[in-house]
Amino acid sequence: EKGGYDYFMLKEIAEQPKAVADTLLGRIDASGVLSLDELRIPPAVLREVDKVVIVACGTAYHAGMIAKYAIEHWTRIPCETELASEFRYRDPILDRHTLVIAISQSGETMDTLMALRHAREQGAKVLAICNTNGSTIPRESDAVLYTHAGPEVAVASTKAFLTQLVACYLVALYVAQVRGTKWGDEIRDVVRELAAIGTQVEQVLDTMEPVRELARSLADKNTVLFLGRHVGYPVALEGALKLKELAYMHAEGFAAGELKHGPIALIEDDLPVVVVVPSPRGRSVLHDKIVSNIQEIRARGARTIVIAEEGDETVVPYADHLVRIPRTPVLLQPLVSTVPLQVFACELATARGNEVDQPRNLAKSVTVE
Ligand code: F6R
Repeated sequence: EKGGYDYFMLKEIAEQPKAVADTLLGRIDASGVLSLDELRIPPAVLREVDKVVIVACGTAYHAGMIAKYAIEHWTRIPCETELASEFRYRDPILDRHTLVIAISQSGETMDTLMALRHAREQGAKVLAICNTNGSTIPRESDAVLYTHAGPEVAVASTKAFLTQLVACYLVALYVAQVRGTKWGDEIRDVVRELAAIGTQVEQVLDTMEPVRELARSLADKNTVLFLGRHVGYPVALEGALKLKELAYMHAEGFAAGELKHGPIALIEDDLPVVVVVPSPRGRSVLHDKIVSNIQEIRARGARTIVIAEEGDETVVPYADHLVRIPRTPVLLQPLVSTVPLQVFACELATARGNEVDQPRNLAKSVTVE
C-alpha cells in the first residue's frame, strides 16, 4: 500500500501535485470564476464579515499564518491567526460578524475543536477546512470546505498542508470575488496560476536529488536554522517543525527581519541556515533585504542553503547550496517552497536512522488537550 515507496511520507510527498489538483477540482470554472456554493454561507453573510480569525495547531497553523497574508491582501478584511490551544484562554473578541476558520487535517484535534466551540458560543460563524469527511470539526462547524488530499498516513503532514493552503487561497479569493476588491486583475491572474499550480509542484519534485544529497551530508549536525519573510516566514517555521519531528534535530525558524534582534548571535562556523527567498518581482524590497541577510550570515560563517525562484541571479554569489523553485505569484510561493523542506527533513530523518512515518512521541491525531 506504500505504492513502491519505502515510507508513506515519501508517497504522500509525491502525491502532492494530484492532491492539489483534486482540491481545486470543480471549484474554479473555465472562465476563472470561483464557485464555492458548497460553503453554504450566503454571500450576504460573507459581505458582512468584518474580521477573520484562523485557529489551528502545528502544520495547519502554519497554513493559517500564510492564509492571513492572502486574506488581508485580497479581501482587506483584518485577519488574525492564532494557535488553537491559546485562543479561548485569552477571552478573544468575537461576534456574529466574525468568520472563524478552523483548519485541521484529521478533524479531531481537541484544541481546534475547543476553539471552534468557544467561537460558536460567542456567535461567530465557523468554517472548517478539513481533510477527513464526517469528522468532528466539520460536523460542529457552520460550513466546511474539504481538502481532497486523500488519506494521510505518515504522522508528519505534507500533502494535507499543501491542500490546506489551496483551500485557504480559494476562500480568500472567493470572499474577494463576493465582496468585490480593488485587486480584480491581480486576482484573475492568481486564479489562473493557482489552477495550474500542480504542474509546478511536480517540477519541484523532479529536481529534488541534490536536496536529498545535501540532507545526507548534514546528518551529524546538531542545529539547522530557517529564515523567511512575508509568506516565507511561516514556510521557515514549517521547515523547522518538520526537521524537529522527523530528524529530532534542534531547528528553529525566524522572520529574517528579526535576525538583528537576537538570532544572529547563533550564527557560527558551518551552521546550516536555510533561507526562503521571496520573489524578486512583486514586493522586491523584501527580496533585496533578504539577500543582505544572506550576505550577513555568510560573512559570519553560516553555510547558506538558499531556496530561490528560477531566474533570480542576485542570490547566486552568496548561496553555498542553491535550490531552485518555479516562478509563482508572490502569495502562492509557499506551495512550491515548502516541498524542498519536506524532502530535506524526510531524507535527514532516514540518514539518522529514524522511523520516518512514526516519529517518537507523536500521534497522528491529537485528541487530548
Ligand atoms: C506536523 C503535524 C502536526 C499537525 C497538528 C494538527 O507535521 O502533522 O503538527 O499538523 O497536530 O493536526 P490536524 O491538522 O489534524 O488538526
